[in-house]
Amino acid sequence: MRAIAISDFGADPELIETPEPEPRPGELLVRLRAAGYNPVDTKIASGAMKDRMSPRFPLIMGQDGAGVVAAVGAEVTGFRPGDEVYGRFADPSRGLGSFAEYAVVAQDGPVAFMPKGMLPEQAAAVPTATATARDLVEAARLEEGQTVLIVGATGGVGQSATQLAALRGAHVIATAAPGADEIMRALGAAETVDHTKGGVADQVLAGHPDGIDAVLDLVTPPAAVDSVAALVRPGGVICSTIHALDPEALAAREIRGVNVVNQVTGPILAELADVIDSGELRVRVESLVPLEHAPTLLREIAARSARGKTVITM
Ligand SMILES: NC(=O)c1ccc[n+]([C@@H]2O[C@H](COP(=O)([O-])OP(=O)(O)OC[C@H]3O[C@@H](n4cnc5c(N)ncnc54)[C@H](OP(=O)(O)O)[C@@H]3O)[C@@H](O)[C@H]2O)c1
Repeated sequence: MRAIAISDFGADPELIETPEPEPRPGELLVRLRAAGYNPVDTKIASGAMKDRMSPRFPLIMGQDGAGVVAAVGAEVTGFRPGDEVYGRFADPSRGLGSFAEYAVVAQDGPVAFMPKGMLPEQAAAVPTATATARDLVEAARLEEGQTVLIVGATGGVGQSATQLAALRGAHVIATAAPGADEIMRALGAAETVDHTKGGVADQVLAGHPDGIDAVLDLVTPPAAVDSVAALVRPGGVICSTIHALDPEALAAREIRGVNVVNQVTGPILAELADVIDSGELRVRVESLVPLEHAPTLLREIAARSARGKTVITM
């Protein structure tokens, strides 16, 4: 099968030919039609997370994917060949990931039936980003009428978080570079602020001089996060996906600080599929890239602006 792999941490991604993986007992072999890119994919490849993993090289990149069950291992009961599924298909200890024509996942792992109204190219964009958005909104305990700022709202996590926060009845302020504000309003943002003009906190404070209830922050590094946290009223909450917060220091100011680590499980993916099928949540695929062009994409992607998800097609 064809796959995109790295030969070591820091090496350039390459298109390789490699044997199809064998499903072990309890596993599904899935013929992937599409794989969703997430920033963690390039972080892993760079070696930034090497203290937390011992992969086998060559390591096939990617986590998220969608396709059709091609075969099942012994003891699989919940899925059959031909089922359309989506989920996370990474097993670095076996050198396996989702930027490949075939991948495996445990039947009780992060896999579920695809949302019925979606194509694999759309479903592959969902797992990591939308599950993380769900975690953020849960961790913030957002309620109707609260005002929440989402920093990094135009990306994969942020677009889902904007919709899920608005679904809870929150007043959403979304960061958006010029040209992206209409997209964010269509997804449920009540206001947008242009982060490329600088001073997101000042722009928000101008319209909300008494502060706001919550911040969901996907991009602000530890050295700069205090200016954003200062917007939150005592009793409020700030959540970060990049571990930028010092919860103890925030607690001293009566602000709850949560460094969110996502949970992507089969039941959560099944729940998200239901929300998508109900029409309440959209996932916007910004670009589709054929597998053979993925190495070029992956070399350039850190410098690109995200207005939704990038999906690799097989
Ligand atoms: N903790 C976890 O479990 C977890 C899970 C998922 C993701 N993450 C992390 O969360 C982050 C976001 O993930 P993602 O998938 O949403 O990334 P993404 O799709 O690349 O989106 C990032 C967005 O942030 C915007 N942005 C960049 N700098 C900004 C700034 N200074 N102010 C406001 N917006 C800014 C970008 O738009 P422009 O380019 O137009 O500025 C882009 O739309 C990544 O670092 C990812 O690794 C963590």
